[in-house]
Amino acid sequence: MMKNISIALDGPAGAGKSTIAKIIANIKNLTYIDTGAMYRAIAFKILERGIHIEEEKKIQEILSRCKIDMDENDIFLDGKNITEDIRSPKVNNFVSHIAKIPHVRMKMVELQRNIASNKHVIMDGRDIGTYVMPNATYKFYLTASIEERATRRFTELKEKGIEITQKEVKDEIGNRDKIDMEREFAPLRKAEDAIEIDTTGKSIQKVVDEILYYLK
Ligand code: CDP
Ligand code: CDP
Repeated sequence: MMKNISIALDGPAGAGKSTIAKIIANIKNLTYIDTGAMYRAIAFKILERGIHIEEEKKIQEILSRCKIDMDENDIFLDGKNITEDIRSPKVNNFVSHIAKIPHVRMKMVELQRNIASNKHVIMDGRDIGTYVMPNATYKFYLTASIEERATRRFTELKEKGIEITQKEVKDEIGNRDKIDMEREFAPLRKAEDAIEIDTTGKSIQKVVDEILYYLK
């Protein structure tokens, strides 16, 4: 039997992971798994229920009961489409605090590995090459300067009509990166065997071409 192909794509916020992953998934006929959306979904539910980050038992309960389903474009929580809800400023500011909690991560990793089993996948996140799929066929680590990442996100939000300043976006992603890099359990870092691509000043097509070159 042919071995399943798995591609791990990690990096800080706004590096272009999900945009690039979706394009590569289409070209190479892979299943795309957006692990960030899963952490966002849990954070959204905890916020919606008004649960405090220190209420461990309640968070455990949410984890044991919630049902997350995803397709290429949408994410559903307990049957409800929450694709738009999980991108709100509230979730942005909360998600990294939730993603620090080890039992939240254990549960998400279990789900991610289940979705990936017996499929050809491209998975994007923070700990995919280091923790979720340490034996991935290919590993990439995308970066870009904080200025460029903030500008990309700001442009995206502006197009959606969300009122926010560029400084607020830069602070938000900078804070999130810091929490993600400094957490104890499965922090954001480049896997030793990952190929690092600095995407600063590069078009989406250029980054896609670079990755395709390595996949040949
Ligand atoms: O799209 P963006 O890069 O802004 O964020 P995301 O990929 O949707 O991830 C949101 C947050 O989820 C991150 O800032 C991390 O706190 C957390 N996350 C994580 O801890 N591990 C992952 N594999 C993916 C996301
Ligand atoms: O998933 P991640 O947070 O790493 O980034 P993303 O959501 O894929 O990309 C953030 C924004 O940057 C999107 O609007 C992309 O279209 C844009 N982008 C870009 O302008 N140039 C690139 N080389 C990559 C992404």
